[in-house]
Amino acid sequence: MLAARYKEMLNQKSVIRDMFYFACDRVVAHGAENVFDYSIGNPSVPVPVAYNKKIAELLEGPDFITVHGYSPNLGILSVREKISSYLNKTYDMAYKADHIFMTAGAASAICHALRCVVEEGEEVIVFAPYFPEYRPYIELNGGVMRVVEPDTTAFQIDFDKLERALNEKTAAVMVNSPSNPSGAVFSEETLKKLAALLTEKQKQYGHEIFIISDEPYREIVFNGQTVPYVSKYYDNTLSCYSFSKSLSVPGDRIGYLAANPDCLDAEMIAPMCGQISRGLGHNCPTAFIQLAVGELIGTTADLSVYETNMNLLYDAFTDMGIACIRPNGTFYLFPKAPEPDAKAFCDKAKYANLIFVPGDSFGCPGYFRVSFCRDTETVKRSIPVLRDFMRKTYGI
Ligand SMILES: Cc1ncc(COP(=O)(O)O)c(C=O)c1O
Repeated sequence: MLAARYKEMLNQKSVIRDMFYFACDRVVAHGAENVFDYSIGNPSVPVPVAYNKKIAELLEGPDFITVHGYSPNLGILSVREKISSYLNKTYDMAYKADHIFMTAGAASAICHALRCVVEEGEEVIVFAPYFPEYRPYIELNGGVMRVVEPDTTAFQIDFDKLERALNEKTAAVMVNSPSNPSGAVFSEETLKKLAALLTEKQKQYGHEIFIISDEPYREIVFNGQTVPYVSKYYDNTLSCYSFSKSLSVPGDRIGYLAANPDCLDAEMIAPMCGQISRGLGHNCPTAFIQLAVGELIGTTADLSVYETNMNLLYDAFTDMGIACIRPNGTFYLFPKAPEPDAKAFCDKAKYANLIFVPGDSFGCPGYFRVSFCRDTETVKRSIPVLRDFMRKTYGI
């Protein structure tokens, strides 16, 4: 017999992927230069040369056991040491290598974090609009996902709604700043308020509530801003980082979990992840990829194109009267659709070769996501097409 739970999932396909496949079909029919695919979040800037060089050096070197052998269960110690010192220097923290667990990207870090702090049937709070993969991450790791409806004025947190969602079964709260899909960065004020509320609720319920902080866009910020480091504000935080976007290497599957040194049983988190790994069949990221990112800790690809693209698209949308919060980071815009049904809007736009994703998939109907990790020339060429479509379809 096939497992019913996963068989059932075959009927819940990803809307992002559907839109992406639609774009691929349009490319065949209309030519790549005429299709503006703003569906999927695949980084579009080149990988730093130093990263590829390091990999080549490792692969050509004599030490094939270090390069191709099994990595230690929790990750290569020298890499974990470099990560902890970098985090300490950058965010004034006190991590040791023991608090770091190497993972296959943020996805794997989040799944390990969830298993670490959520018992079967306990609740995990997510703020809409949220990354759609949170549902499978949470539900397939035994949790129950509870959604807090969005604050569409600034995409911070609606604290009244959060208070109503918190209860004795709450084990964790997912935070994603900068956010996919809104591009919003949680302000210091938001994080302080969140920390105060969770601290109060921990006392009231008599158990810890963890923040699982999903941080793949930490370095993609605009206007020279910095992103407040969530763990700085709340001890019971597990930070889930990925090099997918900062180094443009999503296919290399590399990231880490960093347990706040002052969280509950901090020294047990990484070793517990090592045990969780056995059940997930994870058994550590590829050794030479760990060593290559170890060489580049604190460096990023040239991410400046994302800000250029954001400004072009933000100006175009707002100039047409489309309401949109100016993103502080990521490579996403999250405008309000020009009709109440964002799915209907995206269905019309896609036949004009403009491929967007309706906000319904992110728990925020009425909005749509524009993933602008494209080259700037393509973005520029899309704007007259966008204007033409909006004028003909909505008279704007
Ligand atoms: C908000 C968010 N979290 C997690 C992930 C997963 O990232 P990774 O490729 O590192 O597993 C993504 C990927 O797009 C994302 O946007």
